[in-house]
Amino acid sequence: MSSESDRPVSIQFVPIEFQSDVYRQSIALRHAVLRQPLGLAYSESQLAAEHDQLHFGMLSGNQLLACVSVMLFSPSEAKIRQMAVDAALQGRGIGSDLLGRVELELKSRGVQCIELHAREVAVGFYERLGYMVTGEPFTEVTLPHIKMTKTMVTC
Ligand SMILES: CC(C)(COP(=O)(O)OP(=O)(O)OC[C@H]1O[C@@H](n2cnc3c(N)ncnc32)[C@H](O)[C@@H]1OP(=O)(O)O)[C@@H](O)C(=O)NCCC(=O)NCCS
Repeated sequence: MSSESDRPVSIQFVPIEFQSDVYRQSIALRHAVLRQPLGLAYSESQLAAEHDQLHFGMLSGNQLLACVSVMLFSPSEAKIRQMAVDAALQGRGIGSDLLGRVELELKSRGVQCIELHAREVAVGFYERLGYMVTGEPFTEVTLPHIKMTKTMVTC
């Protein structure tokens, strides 16, 4: 059974610049975790649309362990997307650390409400971090998803 004590040492939370080397690592990680198992791939237009989004990750040395992207809808509203932890490192607290750090970063920028489309199998992960189901199930990338939201301050 995995635990937090199995985590790589010296994990660093980092912003990821669009089209940087670490960004390219994040595409590979997301492809391996989120797309390849479904027989899908990112299109050039999907990736090009990420130029005005925020990207964050957890690094150990030069190795990207986890990543997530953020769309800012308005100064106070954001959408979390593309959350992925290396398959060999899931269940060690890395995903919750990453999301917690991203929430602090967004809060410092004035974001008050966060939404996301959770895969049905990941709803429990987000619930533990305070997200609530706010819609009906729907299908995205062939899988059942549901909208979840978290309000960081009254809005
Ligand atoms: C879902 C994911 C991001 C979670 O990251 P992680 O590093 O594995 O999760 P953590 O170790 O930080 O887990 C934090 C808590 O959530 C729980 N948890 C983790 N994944 C869960 C899941 N799929 N369902 C329910 N609970 C989950 C853990 O047991 C832990 O609970 P605890 O605090 O009571 O011990 C990661 O497992 C992943 O990348 N999964 C595959 C891709 C995916 O589903 N991404 C989300 C798309 S919406």
